[in-house]
Amino acid sequence: MYNNWEELEKSIENCEKCKLCQARTNIVFGTGNKNTKIMFIGEGPGADEDAQGLPFVGKAGQLMNKAFEYVGINRDEIYIANIVKCRPPGNRNPEEDEAKECLDYLRNQVVLIKPKIIVLLGSVALQNILGKEYKITASRGKWFIKKDIKYMPTWHPAALLRDENKKLDFIRDLMMILNESRKN
Ligand code: URA
Repeated sequence: MYNNWEELEKSIENCEKCKLCQARTNIVFGTGNKNTKIMFIGEGPGADEDAQGLPFVGKAGQLMNKAFEYVGINRDEIYIANIVKCRPPGNRNPEEDEAKECLDYLRNQVVLIKPKIIVLLGSVALQNILGKEYKITASRGKWFIKKDIKYMPTWHPAALLRDENKKLDFIRDLMMILNESRKN
């Protein structure tokens, strides 16, 4: 565990802890405000994120930006990272060993940021952070508190691209998150 960003970022530079290193273009470390109250966690980089080295810059990210704009969340005010920092080939889900190796980096990011709220975008984020027994359909829109952090699972933005009906849930969840972040 590193107690500053410089060392943490340096430690990941040439990471070869799992096989995802073989096909990556860029490591997608995470981006945003390191003093934020709200941290978002996605699944893993897609093709656009791999090309640019930034999370949620592709289609799903653009839709998420629109939802952020609608509810009044400024992307510069929050921090966004993923369960795995390198692109799984063909956008498959990260495998268990890949997520396990990469989670140490994410945990270190959480320790440095000290967010009050962590938003879990989709099932992969939910199950890797809260546990395999959690299902996204039953958990989304609900608060789960663990070690002083409030977790809110919600749909992954890519799910909204496939199913329009999920957009309203997503907006509602974002509003709850924003309201909660404004308390005290
Ligand atoms: N999907 C994710 O889960 N993360 C990204 O960064 C982009 C798409």
